[in-house]
Parts: sequence; structure tokens; C-alpha cells
Amino acid sequence: MSPARDFHAVFGHPPQARAAAPGRVNLLGERTDYNDGFVLPIAIPQQTQVGMARNGQDSFRLHARDLDQTVSFTLQAPPAPHFATYVHGCLAEVAQSGFDVPPLDIHVASDVPMGVGLSSSAALEVATLRCLRALLALPLDDVRIAQLGQRAEIHHAGVRCGILDQMASSLAGTDRALLLDTRSLARREVPLPLHTAILVLDSGEPRTLAGSGYNERRAQCEEAARLLGVPALRDVPDLEAVQALPEPLRRRARHVLSENARVLQAVACTSARDFGALMNASHASLRDDYEVSTPGIDRLVAGLQAHPAVHGARLTGAGFGGACVALCREGTLTAVVRTVLAGYEASGGTGRVLVPPMAAGV
Ligand code: GLA
Repeated sequence: MSPARDFHAVFGHPPQARAAAPGRVNLLGERTDYNDGFVLPIAIPQQTQVGMARNGQDSFRLHARDLDQTVSFTLQAPPAPHFATYVHGCLAEVAQSGFDVPPLDIHVASDVPMGVGLSSSAALEVATLRCLRALLALPLDDVRIAQLGQRAEIHHAGVRCGILDQMASSLAGTDRALLLDTRSLARREVPLPLHTAILVLDSGEPRTLAGSGYNERRAQCEEAARLLGVPALRDVPDLEAVQALPEPLRRRARHVLSENARVLQAVACTSARDFGALMNASHASLRDDYEVSTPGIDRLVAGLQAHPAVHGARLTGAGFGGACVALCREGTLTAVVRTVLAGYEASGGTGRVLVPPMAAGV
């Protein structure tokens, strides 16, 4: 059933506004956004769709089709289920910005894979805010939408994230990557190397430390910047400067500096092989210096990197489990998937294809 028909079936009346927003995969520039650095995401085909209508009641009603769950809440009394905190957070942030947000019936349907590093939460936030903008004719541009989504995540979901995910969901397309300076929010579209295709595989490793480990790494970066006397690690002039830091701050800072450099090199290079080599180097840095990989992800990435049709591969997203992204030669995805997933299974892992979406085939 379409989301609009399902809205009617759940609430007994049609939606007054509808909007959608995609998940994203980050090609390079991991853990750089909260250091005011550079990122290079691209939107994925999977989207979250939100429908809304005023309900004339005292409270909001939210239905998540894919979880088959309905919850009620008010702006003052947040809902308990995790998915609902993102929606409530967006509504609360818009209300806090001075706009009147009346009680609504809200319907969410999504095919963005959850909890694997493809920004299902940002897709939910951006789709919610877009729908609210359409319904209430709010004067919010796409950057403001991303910023409100980030605030919802920090203040209501408790993850001190950067702006990567929400900017990607709000502004990136599926054909070109988005080079974003997360300090100035200056951005431009960057074509992928010619004759390549993106593959995203799930490692099947659950992202157990996603909240606590994420915030801990961020705190370490802030401490490193403080010790070096700069506003953010983005401002450290060269790798020489981080030598004075105590461990593990030295390695954390080294990752951020080298990762920023890789993003800028990647957008300047035209060869798929060079781009892939930067992805491989990013994975090594995330594994050894930033320590956010897992044994399963390392095996899956190694399997991808060993395939002759793969230019480069790395973990993507916050790490501690979740997905890997690979840049492959166009027309080879079926062969790559078959070989790499078989090898991963032989080593005890259970992987699956996330992008391209299974419905589209590889
Ligand atoms: C999560 C956060 C982003 C970013 C990435 C890592 O997706 O939400 O802000 O920090 O991790 O690059």
C-alpha cells in the first residue's frame, strides 16, 4: 500500500502534505565534520517518506509503517520509542525557533536501511522537516533544514553529531558526490570517476558503541584541539604539529588531518584508481588511528580491496560496525558481490547488499 493510502487507513483521513528525503553514503571524510573539516557524501536511492495532517487534537500521533507502531506525544512530553524521538526532536526544534506547530497526525515509511551507517535518522529528520515546511509554509531553506535536523539529533537523541548526514540528506543527489566544507558550509557537486559504480555492503556487525564511542571520540578531538591551541583540528597546519600530543590524542588528530587531506585530494583526482587508493588509506586510518573498525568490517573491507574490479573500499559512517562502501568498475557489481560475500561468509560473517537497493538488482 502506498504511504498516502496507508496514512488514510491508519488515521481515517488523507495527508495534507507529503515529503521525502534520502539516506546517504559517505565516500570519504569520516569523523571530520565535528572537527570543522571536509566530507564527500552522496545520496542513496532509498528514501524516507513522511505524510502529515493537522488532527485538531491535543497531542501528536505518529505511525511508523515499517515498525507497525503508533505513538502519541506532546511537544512537552517526548515519546519513548527511539524512532519517535527524532520526529519529536524536529517538531520541538521548529517550535523553539518561534514557529507555531499544531498537533498533527504523522506517518513515516522508509526503505533506508536502519542502524548501518546510511543515515536513516537524518533521512527521517530531513523528511519530517520538509513535510512540516510544506504543511505550514515555513520560510526554511535546505541548509536551515539540515541544521534543525542536526539540533534534533544532538538535543533529543543525545548523539553529538556533526552536520554531514543532515546536509547530505537535504542537499546531495544520487548522481554526484557533494563536497562540503563543514565549517563554512560551502559546497559543490563532484562527479564520480568515470566508469565506476558504488557498492555498499552491510557487515552484519551491530553498531554497539554507536552512541558512547561516538561522543568519546569527539571529546578526544576537542581535547586535542584545546591542547594545540586551535579552535578545531581543521586548523592544525600539518602532521608535524600533532607529534607533541599524548596518545591516543595524537593518533586521533592524525586521522582527522590525513582524512581532510584525502577528501581534498580525491576531488582533485580524475583516476578511479587514485580515488580508490584514498578510500583504502581512509580505512587504514579509521582502523589504526581512530580505532572505530571491527574485525568483521576489516575482513569484509579486505575482501573488497582484494577483488580486481574494486578500486577501493572502506568502512563508512560512524564505525563500530555497520556498512562498507566500495568504488567498483562499472558493470562488475554482481561478480564483486558474489565473490566477496562468499569469502566473508566462509570467514564466519553474514553480509548483504545495501546499495544498489536489492529491488534494483546488482
Ligand atoms: C555519524 C554522524 C556524522 C559523522 C559521521 C562520521 O554519521 O552523524 O555527523 O560524524 O558519523 O563521519
